[in-house]
Amino acid sequence: MKTPALGAARIAWDEEGTAHAPAFGDVYHARSGAQAQARTVFLEGNGLPARWAGCPDFTIAELGLGLAHNLLATWAAWRADPARPTRLHYVAIEAHPASREDLARAHAGQPQQALAEQLLRAWPPRLRGLHRLDFEGGALRLLLALGDVQELLPQLVFRADAFYLDGFAPDRNPRMWEPRVLKALGRRAAPGATAATWSVARSVREGLTSAGFACERVDGAGEKRQTLRARFAPRHGQRSLADDAPPAGSTAPADASRRALVVGAGLAGACCAAALAAQGFEVTVLDRRPAQTSAAVDASRLAGIFHATVHADDSRHARLLRAGALHSARLLATLESARVPHDRSGLLRVERELDLAAMQARLDRLGLPPDFVQALPPEVASARAGVTLARPAWFFPGGGWIAPIRFVGERLAQPRVQYLPGREVAALRREDGAWQALDAQGRVLAQAPELVLANADEANALLATLQAAPLPLARERGQVSSFAAPVPLRCALAGDGYAVPLPGGGLLCGATRQPGDDAAELRDADHRANFERLQRLCGLQAPEDPAQWQGRVGWRAHAIDRLPLAGPLPALTIASGTRLDQARLLPREAGLHLLCGLGSRGLTMAPLLAELVAARIAGAPLPLEQELVDAVDPARFLVRAARASSAAGAAAAPATSPRSPVA
Ligand SMILES: Cc1cc2nc3c(=O)[nH]c(=O)nc-3n(C[C@H](O)[C@H](O)[C@H](O)COP(=O)(O)OP(=O)(O)OC[C@H]3O[C@@H](n4cnc5c(N)ncnc54)[C@H](O)[C@@H]3O)c2cc1C
Ligand SMILES: C[S@@+](CC[C@H](N)C(=O)[O-])C[C@H]1O[C@@H](n2cnc3c(N)ncnc32)[C@H](O)[C@@H]1O
Repeated sequence: MKTPALGAARIAWDEEGTAHAPAFGDVYHARSGAQAQARTVFLEGNGLPARWAGCPDFTIAELGLGLAHNLLATWAAWRADPARPTRLHYVAIEAHPASREDLARAHAGQPQQALAEQLLRAWPPRLRGLHRLDFEGGALRLLLALGDVQELLPQLVFRADAFYLDGFAPDRNPRMWEPRVLKALGRRAAPGATAATWSVARSVREGLTSAGFACERVDGAGEKRQTLRARFAPRHGQRSLADDAPPAGSTAPADASRRALVVGAGLAGACCAAALAAQGFEVTVLDRRPAQTSAAVDASRLAGIFHATVHADDSRHARLLRAGALHSARLLATLESARVPHDRSGLLRVERELDLAAMQARLDRLGLPPDFVQALPPEVASARAGVTLARPAWFFPGGGWIAPIRFVGERLAQPRVQYLPGREVAALRREDGAWQALDAQGRVLAQAPELVLANADEANALLATLQAAPLPLARERGQVSSFAAPVPLRCALAGDGYAVPLPGGGLLCGATRQPGDDAAELRDADHRANFERLQRLCGLQAPEDPAQWQGRVGWRAHAIDRLPLAGPLPALTIASGTRLDQARLLPREAGLHLLCGLGSRGLTMAPLLAELVAARIAGAPLPLEQELVDAVDPARFLVRAARASSAAGAAAAPATSPRSPVA
């Protein structure tokens, strides 16, 4: 098992203020100055800022984020340039992230200090994997890939217009420059991509050349006599990811032709709409429900929890929830709680099986840092919660609760999003390259080249109108309960059930689980079940008078493997002989995407998975590792079905036919 733990950067500072890495016997930047090096070697070396002028999107990938001098110099150049790209994507790989203290020290009193402070505020816990940090209202997006380059690069899906190669010197850190690393860059190079580095080592030139780059040594500055510039010019037969991935970066569709249609204005649809709008799409969202503000219960007093989880084997499920919870917390940090009531100051999850020693041993084994999760004894957890907890608890400092209806409203109120409530979609049709949503009379409600079905398990009813086989989705009823009487609870609490202290007093708790139950009315028996669970969780009692009880009924949609479905649908017709052994290789139905099956974790998963869906549509860097993209790929069921039915032979589609059932 690979743990999420990452070693911290060990940095030694000399009297001139230069940062050294004793483990590599090298310096973080030229003594002549980090900013000068960033500008001359990396920006100018890639023809920037001139090359990005007027591009809607531009993607830079850096090997070795280090102290972020190159990032901050690029950010400053982007800000200063009136012809800057609308969206700058910056993918940075780093195996030993610097501490906050070292980052602050590197930029104290420097021209980029204010940008560095923004970076510091967003700096994630030291956890392996991808962390997408948005700046400049989402126009500058840092995809921070924490982990070793050789493990992570194959997991990253992006196409770069420019590469900054800034590992330590090749003779001191050969791992960063191995031919297979450079080859992986070639596979991720957009047409016309460039690369730059201060190293002119022969091994680097040879590696880049065999990856498809034409290299050129140019005069250097400071202590570097020469530096290296390279242009992606693949010879016949050299493959780039461009050969098997949708277009990205500078070749993505122009903003004027970016239009999308989303069915469903719940958490999934609203988050998708906002994520697509941030990628320059004009988005129409249709939902049969009237606008949510008319909900019977005060929308600011409904609450749902979001948090990560700790699994013994750090399963894909745990990794997804971790990435999702961190992303939700980052997004909430940009939202005023007056507009979207929320609390992200921590959630306690009462542990039902392990004792404190076993919990701590698990954290130590997984190397999970305390700014992500801690194991607390009952008395410490109780003091934090303000109620008595009989058992130890996991404390997730970045978890908390959100008022979901207000959150959905905020996501739907983004520029470029048109929300049309009260529109029931009865069928789908593709006409002249556009997806059309039709009402029961066959009239077109809206149309666009890209369609996202974000209508939970009801996606199947619409897929049936395209003669597509159903997805293995089921749904279960749930009821939450609340009351307004004052409670001492101070933070979101989970375990067997959950409880949230509401703004203005009172508490919400839940929730029941009733598969196959379609009854929409509130039930006192369900309130009682929720209040009994609340009492077991933390000893709190609900008022006895049912007249003081409130609540809400909803449905959770989930797939049979309990993982969400997020991504493009497989082609509705699959040609005979198509390989069905890997989801990522399956042909897709142009412009048809899904985000559903979020189960009971919509607040943890919807914001991040919406970014995934939007990035796949826009051709932007994917915010999740390929392994996790595969885990939520709607095509996975087709692969499983093919594997099961052809255990004796090669997995291949039997004949040209509508998709075979996968449920
Ligand atoms: C009682 C309860 C408590 C929960 N607590 C939490 C919690 O604390 N934290 C958490 O993260 N999650 C919680 N969940 C789960 C969370 O609510 C879901 O994960 C989330 O709502 C799923 O969002 P969605 O957008 O995928 O689906 P939905 O919210 O179901 O939205 C789908 C939308 O599609 C619309 N629609 C469907 N078909 C059509 C059509 N043909 N035409 C037009 N519109 C259509 C529907 O009207 C609906 O608005 C809870 C769920 C329940 C039931
Ligand atoms: C020269 S420094 C980068 C300086 C940085 N670009 C800046 O602007 O501040 C090299 C970086 O590469 C990172 N690194 C070294 N080996 C690595 C590996 N195998 N995978 C990922 N990162 C690595 C180091 O931790 C270090 O931060």
